[in-house]
Amino acid sequence: MHRVDAIVLGAGAAGLFCAGLAGQRGLKVLLIDHAERVAEKIRISGGGRCNFTNREATPAQFLSANPHFCRSALARYTPADFIALVRRHGIAFHEKHKGQLFCDDSAEQIIALLLAECAAGGVERWQPCSVKAVRQSGGGGFEIDTDRGPVAAPQLVIATGGLPVPKIGATDFGLRLARQFGLRVVEPRPALVPLTFDASAWAPFAALSGLSLEVEISTGTGQKGPKGKGQPAGHFVEDLLITHRGLSGPAVLQISSYWQPGEPLRIDLLPQRDLPALLAAAKAGSRRHLGNVLADWLPQRLADTWLATLDLPKDKPLPELRDRDLARLAEALQRWQLTPTGTEGWKKAEVMAGGVDTRDLDSRHLGARSVPGLHFIGEVVDVTGWLGGYNFQWAWSSAAACAQAL
Ligand code: FDA
Repeated sequence: MHRVDAIVLGAGAAGLFCAGLAGQRGLKVLLIDHAERVAEKIRISGGGRCNFTNREATPAQFLSANPHFCRSALARYTPADFIALVRRHGIAFHEKHKGQLFCDDSAEQIIALLLAECAAGGVERWQPCSVKAVRQSGGGGFEIDTDRGPVAAPQLVIATGGLPVPKIGATDFGLRLARQFGLRVVEPRPALVPLTFDASAWAPFAALSGLSLEVEISTGTGQKGPKGKGQPAGHFVEDLLITHRGLSGPAVLQISSYWQPGEPLRIDLLPQRDLPALLAAAKAGSRRHLGNVLADWLPQRLADTWLATLDLPKDKPLPELRDRDLARLAEALQRWQLTPTGTEGWKKAEVMAGGVDTRDLDSRHLGARSVPGLHFIGEVVDVTGWLGGYNFQWAWSSAAACAQAL
């Protein structure tokens, strides 16, 4: 039987980082992944440039059944800590938008950083290697059967990530293992994912596929329901992208994490503008056509589609339009309420919401309360960040918290 101090399952963001840190603390660490290559998700992240953290990350940008759970790990390994590490490795980076940090050159640089940290810690890696069974050994610790033979360790770290993008190796391994050991799982669902609509209802907008504009988007009330559980209210001002099947773009990816099936989204297509006042002023001051006036504030194609949908004439001078029709138009554009029929699912989701229930984990070291030596880190845990580098920061922070306790 091969024996080590700690086995880390999953050589993605969290697993590589945890293995490297634990190895550098002097532990003999074995890192196992079933995929041919390490960190496939880092490779495709941020359009190939990896949005590796967000300068402004705080617990407020994370969703979880227990929103306080992430506090401890995020406070102990911060964005500044990871930025310092990126600098030590000589990786050039830039801030793109709202604190989001990207590599100047390539996501491969972050993978190289993690592999270098693992090498510095003398981490042994078995890859590709399938895990067949995991059990607790008689004298404490764990025994694992793999296609490279059995291995045993007193500490086991599960870093097998979430369900998005199965074609690059995502599995429900971590969730199944949690259940095997009696831990609860918050039902997983795709998050940071495009939303879809009924095809016939969407038909007028499908023709606008590719059109993008800044909107204000929200869902949920934030109020407590009958069981005392609140639906957290999401609210973002970001770009929305119209697609053939529905809505995407940062605004919609962000709100998708908060959206509950059956609930409507509320969209203001002219954020921070008072459309009734703008239309009233235009009506009083000119004989311009409604379609032209609207195109001052909205893409022409979108303005035309809305006028057709509302059965309003685009080539009628504004003074000839009734106030109540203009009010109807303003209401439709600034309080557009629409209910998605679904999401684009795991193939298109960037992250998994839900996961190993934080009630069964210790927030200081991500260890299972009822199974000494068993830890869950990264996306497999019910902690989900916003779009913008937050999910990698959770991977780094949870990995560091765990590594210090192994
Ligand atoms: P991760 O998925 O990185 O690693 C899990 C590892 O476990 C994989 O190597 C997998 O092969 C392995 N594994 C799975 N099942 C196994 C099994 N049964 N046996 C052995 N090994 C197994 N986030 C962000 O902050 N900034 C960004 O720019 C992006 N961009 C982005 C783009 C796209 C397209 C996606 C899909 C996702 C992102 N993300 C992101 C999210 C980010 O990639 C994600 O949250 C982290 O990679 C999670 O890190 P983990 O280590 O937890 O899982």
